[in-house]
Amino acid sequence: MTYTKVSALDATGYVQLRKVATPIPEAEYLGLEYMDWKSGGDTNFAPIASARGELECAGFWDHGKPDKDGIWTSNAERCPTIVEWVERVGANFGRVRTIKLEPQDYETSLQRGHLDDNNRLNPDGEGWVVRCWLELTDNPDSFMILREDKDDPSTETHIPLPRGAQFVVDTERMWHVVCHPGTEPRYALIASFESGADLERWIESELP
Ligand SMILES: [Fe+2]
Repeated sequence: MTYTKVSALDATGYVQLRKVATPIPEAEYLGLEYMDWKSGGDTNFAPIASARGELECAGFWDHGKPDKDGIWTSNAERCPTIVEWVERVGANFGRVRTIKLEPQDYETSLQRGHLDDNNRLNPDGEGWVVRCWLELTDNPDSFMILREDKDDPSTETHIPLPRGAQFVVDTERMWHVVCHPGTEPRYALIASFESGADLERWIESELP
């Protein structure tokens, strides 16, 4: 396989970026239409871009396309700052969603670690699809758990999740799940992007 990849992810499978200067207004992500969809815990998702522009959480592959060339849904009109953030990255995006995650402790979250399937139907020779997070609520005591090897705790890394945190993860390579010991749900934006010069440039511009 000869996918184009982003060099910033080569060594560790993820890269932590600097926090955004201005957090996304709460009304934008709370005002979206959420759907019951479970992934990595007790979760609901609000699709902002989907395979066909519909309010649905199905994989793009269910519609015969890779997780790229996302089409804005009706939710996009309700969250102009989020849309602006996605467009500012400048790379081809696929699914764009906010996630609402109910609290889960470390042990529970570990059992829910998984790999994503970002590159299903992605033609060889094109850009490897990775995922980018922007934290919407302020949860400095919560963290994403990453493992290169699912069964080897020595490969584990934690990314803290304060409001405004941004990071990119090759989620088809890294096992991932969020430990969220709080009492209120945690919200975050998750977007798929195609690796290439545009994503590389954006990552470089957002390094701490
Ligand atoms: Fe995932």
